[in-house]
Amino acid sequence: MNTVLVGVQWGDEGKGKVIDVLTESHDVVIRSQGGNNAGHTIIIGGKKYVLHLLPTGLLRRGKRAIIGNGCVVDPISLVKEIKTLRKKKISVEKRLYLSDRAHVVLPLHCHLDGERENAAKGKKIGTTRRGIGPTYQDKINRVGLRMHELIDGTDLEKKIRARVSEANRLCRALGWKTTSATQMIRECKSAARFLKPYICDTTDLIHKYDSQGKHLLFEGAQGTYLDIDFGTYPFVTSSNTTSGGACTGSGLPPTRVTQVIGTLKAYTTRVGEGPFPTESDKIGDMLHDMGREFGATTGRARRCGWFDAVMTRYACRLSGVTELALTNLDGLDSLDSIQVCVAYRLDGKRMNVPPAGAEALSRCQPIYRKFKGWNTDTSKCTRYRDLPEPARAYLKAISELSGVPLGLISVGPRRDQTFFAPGK
Ligand code: GDP
Ligand code: IMO
Ligand code: MG
Repeated sequence: MNTVLVGVQWGDEGKGKVIDVLTESHDVVIRSQGGNNAGHTIIIGGKKYVLHLLPTGLLRRGKRAIIGNGCVVDPISLVKEIKTLRKKKISVEKRLYLSDRAHVVLPLHCHLDGERENAAKGKKIGTTRRGIGPTYQDKINRVGLRMHELIDGTDLEKKIRARVSEANRLCRALGWKTTSATQMIRECKSAARFLKPYICDTTDLIHKYDSQGKHLLFEGAQGTYLDIDFGTYPFVTSSNTTSGGACTGSGLPPTRVTQVIGTLKAYTTRVGEGPFPTESDKIGDMLHDMGREFGATTGRARRCGWFDAVMTRYACRLSGVTELALTNLDGLDSLDSIQVCVAYRLDGKRMNVPPAGAEALSRCQPIYRKFKGWNTDTSKCTRYRDLPEPARAYLKAISELSGVPLGLISVGPRRDQTFFAPGK
């Protein structure tokens, strides 16, 4: 069983919690795209963990974890993340593997990310400023630095100095701040020494695990509408967050994927700029007043809105989703009535799929279907049949509108606040 998990909204769908539950039945958890822009929250035994680049599977004893070639790795921040886990008595020794082909996020890339955002004024993307875009830009531009070069050390200093000097010329021309290579080199060398034992050919390892019949679980980061091709471009991240990214970002062939789980919230959220047809202050105020929906990486308040089935339906088709994992049903517990967007109206036409352009999407008017609220606390439900009837009707509609059967349902952040739909 090789499972790919993707977010089918704008990220933060509760992937961390779902991965944690699924890890029990898998052997190896693999990140295949993105970097420490992700923030996956898991609550175990009352303790909260937020993982950024490390795969969530590491929180379960004995499980192995891989950071694949498609990821961008900030070595300095990764060392900190490993040390933070160590302090919480979780060791990654002999069970974390880091691809020798993954690209390195240098402090330079974080600097460029920040400067570009600062200069963008009204046209910000609202990035996490973790250097993700500039690192993928260097990768595609074929001037990036990969992990094997970081640990090999040959000419490392020369390579970093050359890259910084080129970037500084650009910064000066644009009136941006410049940056210095010296401290960057020192910090990178120190992180490289620390990370060296973890770095290997992870694709070879994945093939070995697969041939041994081990169960692989691909932990998607971000969500479908942040995908560089299919997201609300340019308000997206710089990697393929859809299921194809799991293959190119790890080296597992598509023929070896057995199931794709689409994670979604019972409503919609988004962090950062960009169009959001079903955005609603009513839901946002309600969730923020409950202390919910603040970003796990940047702490920003997430924008919130009604469930958008146009998006989830298209996202499920894009990733070949075979089953849904729905989280945060309890977030809607106190509403009398709930809306779901079933189609858009754009320039007088009904649209069943999202348009290509962000500008067009920002003009889409949601066509809503109204559902009865349940006004009941669902967070203590432990079986599907414990849910109030209107909640079951809502779930059934979400599954039908998204075109995929429902599997896992989550009614709270803890492991035990999880159950499965009938027949799963
Ligand atoms: P991810 O990036 O997809 O892993 O999601 P985040 O961790 O960024 O955000 C999801 C938030 O929802 C976290 O604070 C989780 O602890 C929380 N969460 C996940 N599932 C549930 C749920 O069913 N109910 C509630 N109340 N919180 C949940
Ligand atoms: P997880 O894995 C939600 C958003 C940023 C911004 C855009 C580009 O926790 O779901 P970037 O720093 O990637 O260049 O920012 O993407 N973004 C996320 N939003 N969840 C995430 O990850 C995100 N990772 C990036 O807010 O809008
Ligand atoms: Mg998150």
